[in-house]
Amino acid sequence: MSHSNPPSPKRFTSGSALTGRVRVPGDKSISHRSIMLGALAAGETRVTGLLEGEDVLATAAAMRAMGASVERGDDGVWSVHGVGVGSLLQPQQALDMGNSGTSTRLLMGVVASHPITAMFTGDASLSKRPMGRVIDPLSQMGATFEASPGGTLPLMLRGISPAVPITYRLPVASAQVKSAVLLAGLNTAGVTTVIEPVPTRDHSERMLRGFGAQLEVGEEDGARVIRMHGEADLTPQDIVVPGDPSSAAFFVVAALLVPGSDLVIENVGLNPTRAALFDVLRDMGGRIEELDRREVGGEPVADLRVRHSVLTGIEVDPAVVPAMVDEFPVLFVAAALAQGTTTTSGLDELRVKESDRLTAMANALTLAGAKVEEREDGLVIEGSAGDPLPGTPEDAEVTTHLDHRIAMAMAVAGVASRYGIAVDDTAPIATSFPTFEALLASARSA
Ligand code: S3P
Repeated sequence: MSHSNPPSPKRFTSGSALTGRVRVPGDKSISHRSIMLGALAAGETRVTGLLEGEDVLATAAAMRAMGASVERGDDGVWSVHGVGVGSLLQPQQALDMGNSGTSTRLLMGVVASHPITAMFTGDASLSKRPMGRVIDPLSQMGATFEASPGGTLPLMLRGISPAVPITYRLPVASAQVKSAVLLAGLNTAGVTTVIEPVPTRDHSERMLRGFGAQLEVGEEDGARVIRMHGEADLTPQDIVVPGDPSSAAFFVVAALLVPGSDLVIENVGLNPTRAALFDVLRDMGGRIEELDRREVGGEPVADLRVRHSVLTGIEVDPAVVPAMVDEFPVLFVAAALAQGTTTTSGLDELRVKESDRLTAMANALTLAGAKVEEREDGLVIEGSAGDPLPGTPEDAEVTTHLDHRIAMAMAVAGVASRYGIAVDDTAPIATSFPTFEALLASARSA
């Protein structure tokens, strides 16, 4: 896990345009869920295109510790032999979640309605993140918790079976909280209901249905209402994981910013609950074309052709935040080189991601020469009108705070800078995108 990796500093410098074709790895959200649901289905689930990043490997290790077999075949296809809903085993050791909030929160939901006790631990970044948001609904279902001060890891969870079905209205727009409650509902007799005032990524709903769970999604008073019928029997599946739009985002912005670029990014998942960044960049003047739109694994997918573009700053509508919640660090980089001002708001959730992404990006971009104002719930960025940012001063480096997306966003800023940007630690990139640096190098030498 990343907390045991030594820091790996690196300077990202300008050079050639991004051209040719790249293929980003599998979607992180879908990869986590493939392993979890595969482990809860009785029989063999096969997963093609799984993201082999540290976060997903933490989920795989946890499911193994609870009785499933999760193995990679020589052909790169993963095979998950599941135990069936309700049949997970007591883990013998603490579940080490590394840097991964998704593993932690979703697995807390899974464990909550099983008669087992699990200790969850994580790295320094994950140990600061709020777990109260899942402890609350899962406690209502009957699970009990001993958490560290502030509702953080390490924490001990005592699951319960039978658990109590609840109706839960999400107080924060969070797919992780929604998914935790739905996954707990899988082994709970009766109907577990989640009310979602602001829609978030819907991979859990799509995949639970795909595995044969009875799940209804409706709308009441403008909110999404998801009803999950418990004591479900899941049927093993063959899953093909589409490319991760959140990983593609770094290549899209790099190609927009570096003069002469003309890059095709293949197999990018375009689920509407994930893809708002590409619309925002188009609104800023970005030339992003969808080629060969198709379906992969029940999700819309296309190849994206991206050409260097002159970008103009905009006011980003806070309503789109959930559909691009992980993409703001790299949007801030695009804004720093655009013409005019970009204003963002409604981004309180960014403060509780792998790092406080508002402060981390404000500091990193300012150090690299951008004009950034940090507000309570967003950044206001005065763009350089296409001039490369100068880069980090000699003997200074941007701090990534164990956050993969800060490291990759600033790498992109580096390739679009005049003198280069030094990043203190690229090791966290392996949590979500282990091939990032190799792919970047290949796009710049195509
Ligand atoms: C995720 C949900 C989002 C996102 C995270 C992945 C998921 O978190 O930031 O990277 O797979 O459900 P929140 O639920 O905290 O918004």
